[in-house]
Amino acid sequence: MSQVPVPPARGAADHPGLFLTLEGGDGVGKTTQVRILAETLRAEGVEVLVTREPGGTALGAEIRRLLLDGDHVDPRAEALLYAADRAHHVATLVRPALERGVVVVSDRYLDSSVAYQGAARSLGVEEVRNLSLWATGGLLPDRTILLDADPALADRRAGGRGGRDRLEREPGAFRAALREQFLALADAEPERIVVVDAARPVDAVAAAVRRAFDPLLAARLGVGGEGV
Ligand code: TYD
Repeated sequence: MSQVPVPPARGAADHPGLFLTLEGGDGVGKTTQVRILAETLRAEGVEVLVTREPGGTALGAEIRRLLLDGDHVDPRAEALLYAADRAHHVATLVRPALERGVVVVSDRYLDSSVAYQGAARSLGVEEVRNLSLWATGGLLPDRTILLDADPALADRRAGGRGGRDRLEREPGAFRAALREQFLALADAEPERIVVVDAARPVDAVAAAVRRAFDPLLAARLGVGGEGV
């Protein structure tokens, strides 16, 4: 596990929208939780943009294909491709939506690069974080949920989904290092990153995710109000 210094980044609240991200290892249930969160917010009349990395834009979908369906990618090339996807995603989709006052929910963002490329691939967390901050003009999420679960559980879930991509075939040690690194990131930025135990039933996890976002939704958009 690497030390995680927290360099200054542009204030997340320089836009009228809300930027929420979900993070975690493969198979922890992020995609399901993103869907539930978006459905409940829309039912409350909130405008939500659901997106993901890599692959939230047409260019990003191409980059995703190169990264996940191909053969070995050199770690530095891999880090740059994720950063390129992120730069284009933020510039063309995320930031314009935030400027319109939309709630943007992204399935993965910069913390995935810091954990996967920075630590688990030993490129250095600070370098990888700075690369992403450069790529995005310093955009950090207003709040991030880390869905945390034992990689063995996540493995069973991912295995049950059928086809597994290149990164999902990584060995156990990689996945354990990844989990530790995500938890270290949460420790370093407790104001932004909330850890949610993802080993519980889907509904319980969804309620915890919503609770973690509620204060911001209430303060910024006047939505909900529970847990404020
Ligand atoms: P994703 O589609 O979220 O996979 P899953 O739904 O199985 O969690 O992410 C694809 C893979 O890309 C995943 O293994 C994590 C990896 N990844 C990185 O290594 N760095 C990054 O910056 C991002 C965004 C993803």
